[in-house]
Amino acid sequence: MAANKSKVLLTGAYGFVGQCISPVLAEHFELMKSPPYDEVTGEGLDLSDSSATRQLMKDIAPNVVVHLAALKNIARCEREPEAAWTANVQTTRNLLPADSTKGPHMVFLSSDYVFDGQEGGYTDLDFPQPATVYGQTKRQAELLVLQAGGTVVRSGGLYGPAHQPGVLFSWAIEQLQQNQKIEAFTNVFNSPTYVNDLATALVQLCRHRPGGIYHAAGSDRLSRFELLRLLAQRLGVNIELVQPSFCPKEANGGVEPGDLSLVCSRRSPLESVRLRGASQVLADWPMTT
Ligand SMILES: NC(=O)c1ccc[n+]([C@@H]2O[C@H](COP(=O)([O-])OP(=O)(O)OC[C@H]3O[C@@H](n4cnc5c(N)ncnc54)[C@H](OP(=O)(O)O)[C@@H]3O)[C@@H](O)[C@H]2O)c1
Repeated sequence: MAANKSKVLLTGAYGFVGQCISPVLAEHFELMKSPPYDEVTGEGLDLSDSSATRQLMKDIAPNVVVHLAALKNIARCEREPEAAWTANVQTTRNLLPADSTKGPHMVFLSSDYVFDGQEGGYTDLDFPQPATVYGQTKRQAELLVLQAGGTVVRSGGLYGPAHQPGVLFSWAIEQLQQNQKIEAFTNVFNSPTYVNDLATALVQLCRHRPGGIYHAAGSDRLSRFELLRLLAQRLGVNIELVQPSFCPKEANGGVEPGDLSLVCSRRSPLESVRLRGASQVLADWPMTT
């Protein structure tokens, strides 16, 4: 059976998004994962190493590359712009074929941070003006992907199933169920996106390989505070446990936090994909996995 399936190479497979979407991609494609990379010890496969990456591409010969590997820590990207460029741009360049008519198709996961957050409600036709180094490097990578005929998919505020360790919800659930107060920003808005909904969008994009820019994000525009109050309500705990707080510039890479909400692309092949708002996802909680 696997012989009829497209071969998909997933980078960043051992990060948060990669771990969540791998099982979904594996249902539809012959999934290969690029090996993990430990930046501290240098062990594993560094995708910014062009000859190692070229060899990987030769060995695997994928039909599609889903490129997730990146440095997404906003503050670190500001402090270490070279590291940001290496992880976000150089890796992308190395994975793209020299001749775009011959190599595999790239589906690149980009970010709402390519916008400056002044307006919110960004569509795929809006012109990106990143305000952070992270956003700038993701935008540089986008341009490389588009030039090579690849597909750029922008998402934001990704959250995983409740059981996924280390993510916003599992931490908040733990605190709230122990009647602990938590603080949440009232001045940071985005479109919280359930990672399994994004996975469905990625399956469609890998299958159809349309090229161009797609927005795939949850349909609610919410502040972090609103999101966590919804969660508290769903858990049946006192919503006052979620206290408002204000995100300072310094916690947002030195730029004024704003509204990074995205409006989704409802054109083929994403028109039938469910990209639910957080209120809808939480209404299904915890049945949704
Ligand atoms: N999380 C979100 O809300 C969100 C929203 C929009 C877009 N995205 C995009 O989604 C993608 C995945 O994000 P994530 O949240 O899963 O981040 P993550 O947990 O930090 O995963 C990123 C992975 O990339 C790997 N990596 C970084 N540099 C590498 C290199 N040179 N060679 C090989 N592997 C390398 C990291 O390895 P180490 O762990 O060893 O560093 C890590 O496993 C990123 O492209 C991000 O821009 C995320």
